[in-house]
Amino acid sequence: MRNPFSPDAGRPPPELAGRDALLEDASVALQRTAQGRAGRSHILYGLRGTGKTVLLNTIRKEAHAHDYLTTFIEAPEGKGLLTLLYPEIREVLRQFSLYENAKAHAHAAARALASMVKAWKVSVGDVTLSVEPETGVADSGSLERDLSALFLRVGQAAQAAGRAWALFIDEVQYLSKEDLGALIVAVHRANQEDLPIIFFGAGLPQVAGIMGNTKSYAERLFLFVQVDHLDKAAAFDAIRLPVEKEGESITDAGLEAIFAHTQGYPYFLQEWGFHAWKVAQASPIDVPDIDAATQAAIHRLDESFFRVRLDRLTLTEKAYVQAMAGLPEGPPYRSKDVAAALGKTVNQISSARDGIIKKGMAYSPAHGDIAFTVPMFAAYLTRATGQDTGEPRLL
Ligand SMILES: Nc1ncnc2c1ncn2[C@@H]1O[C@H](COP(=O)(O)OP(=O)(O)O)[C@@H](O)[C@H]1O
Ligand SMILES: [Mg+2]
Repeated sequence: MRNPFSPDAGRPPPELAGRDALLEDASVALQRTAQGRAGRSHILYGLRGTGKTVLLNTIRKEAHAHDYLTTFIEAPEGKGLLTLLYPEIREVLRQFSLYENAKAHAHAAARALASMVKAWKVSVGDVTLSVEPETGVADSGSLERDLSALFLRVGQAAQAAGRAWALFIDEVQYLSKEDLGALIVAVHRANQEDLPIIFFGAGLPQVAGIMGNTKSYAERLFLFVQVDHLDKAAAFDAIRLPVEKEGESITDAGLEAIFAHTQGYPYFLQEWGFHAWKVAQASPIDVPDIDAATQAAIHRLDESFFRVRLDRLTLTEKAYVQAMAGLPEGPPYRSKDVAAALGKTVNQISSARDGIIKKGMAYSPAHGDIAFTVPMFAAYLTRATGQDTGEPRLL
């Protein structure tokens, strides 16, 4: 009943360990932007289960503490940015229009939104547009320019209302390169005018690559922050502090064992903490408890975290990832080694490769390389296909 651990996507952990510097930077950026000073937007990228969604939610809370109006979107696969943004911006403008000083600006922004919807044929479902589009605004046909024009007006409305707007988008790897590029430029344009808009995105490591040629430019405008596994001290804190807060204890040897199994990956830490708490009969939680917890944790991971990801793949994609996991060298793996293992040419299996990248299963850390976006996925595949000795292990 008192188990403090929370192994669940996006669930706030009992102790948000090792992220103080990142949160401090984000807070400074929020406060500067709200004051009309230059504050950099962030893109957080990293493997699955490293705590990106939790960070976005934490930063969102911080934004509210600084009187921001916020919008939080999770980008689904294959949906355009404008379709996602339309209802959200509409709502933001409605809120700003409640301020007497901002009414006119909010209306102008709503007209820009309407003309963008019209020019870009955004599907808005059943919603009827209550304002007339303004010809010549946000309808040039260049996404970058039109989104910039829209964001300038939203920013002016925010400023007139004496508020600020923070946009959060999770899973940004599912946005197209054009969409993400335009978003970065639009936010930047608003900031050049000292308007109080800031953006926080989070996604898999491929987001850095999605930026393509515009990347170096984007990197100057935005802060790209890697969200990685925790170092040992932070990983120990993530487990020990919640246990102690409940008036219980855990030995250093127990913590070492958890760290060895989880490699400090936040999601795995929660899973091990949860099961260690569950199996332990009394304090201190010690190595034998961790051994028992490891069986249970791995079983849980295999049945959920890893399995759901594998289930989304086609047969050829499954063969591809299995070949990756079977390679003696890596990660990262060489695409040509995967091809060789399957007895095919790189071209013959390139659509399977694209497929798993598109589904967010893998990414390409460098040209010709490929790696899993899920930590320790290779070990899971080995277990799942019975090439293993039978002993559950993650390392
Ligand atoms: N800094 C942290 N310390 C301890 N646990 C964390 C930390 N960040 C996230 N977690 C836990 O890790 C799990 C995954 O977090 P989530 O934000 O969903 O990851 P991501 O979005 O990167 O896939 C959750 O159970 C969460 O409670
Ligand atoms: Mg997430």
